[in-house]
Amino acid sequence: MSRNIDNLRDIVHDLKTPITSIKGFVELLLQSPQKPEVTKEFYNIILDESHKLLNMINEILYSCKNQDINNINNSQEYNLNIQIGKYVKELTPLARKKNIDININSNSSDIYVSIPEDKLSRLLTNIIENAIKYNREHGKVFIDINQEQDMVFVKIRDTGIGIPEEELDKIFNKYYRSSIVENDISFEGSGLGLAIAHDIVTDYNGTISVNSKLNEYTEFVISFPASQINQIQ
Ligand SMILES: Nc1ncnc2c1ncn2[C@@H]1O[C@H](COP(=O)(O)OP(=O)(O)O)[C@@H](O)[C@H]1O
Ligand SMILES: [Mg+2]
Repeated sequence: MSRNIDNLRDIVHDLKTPITSIKGFVELLLQSPQKPEVTKEFYNIILDESHKLLNMINEILYSCKNQDINNINNSQEYNLNIQIGKYVKELTPLARKKNIDININSNSSDIYVSIPEDKLSRLLTNIIENAIKYNREHGKVFIDINQEQDMVFVKIRDTGIGIPEEELDKIFNKYYRSSIVENDISFEGSGLGLAIAHDIVTDYNGTISVNSKLNEYTEFVISFPASQINQIQ
């Protein structure tokens, strides 16, 4: 904690230098008229110092963002099997409406990730909900949860309508809905779920990829660094 305060003091102190310089040159320009070439030189110094200031602020913002993510990352671990079990249970009424069977498989009961629960829920509920929504009557959803070395993989595969191959690279774009569903009122949606999922995955050092065949299947694979909690217990 005290190290953070010391860092903050150093950073704020460094910001004083360009601001003092800018202030000084503006005061000089205001106080006494200068020769045109001197005025130009002062303006150039002010511009340079402003750039420096902006770069420093950008660096600070960037490191604050990383620090926030690290802090959150260290906050709590969640057992992925238990969490996914909960999300599937919540989605059961939706699955029942279409008589969809959901299978969950895992290679270990001790798989943990360090992602806040609200983010984990939003990410996985979105993908599992899609697997139900864009499925056929009496279709299936297979969820595989596996840990391999220090990585965790969640594979969500359905037997649904699929996504045209040429649209796969746009599927994570905000508001994008595939040409199969966009004009079909039985598939309502906003096109935001996958964009949010993608943001969450990248914020927590994960990856997400998609594979699909029209009218056969869609499969999302999500990976995250495994949390080390299972090695402590
Ligand atoms: N499992 C899936 N099977 C087929 N298409 C899918 C699947 N998941 C997503 N899609 C396609 O990707 C689009 C974007 O998904 P999403 O961002 O969750 O938005 P929404 O579900 O609100 O339309 C969907 O509209 C649909 O066209
Ligand atoms: Mg969706």
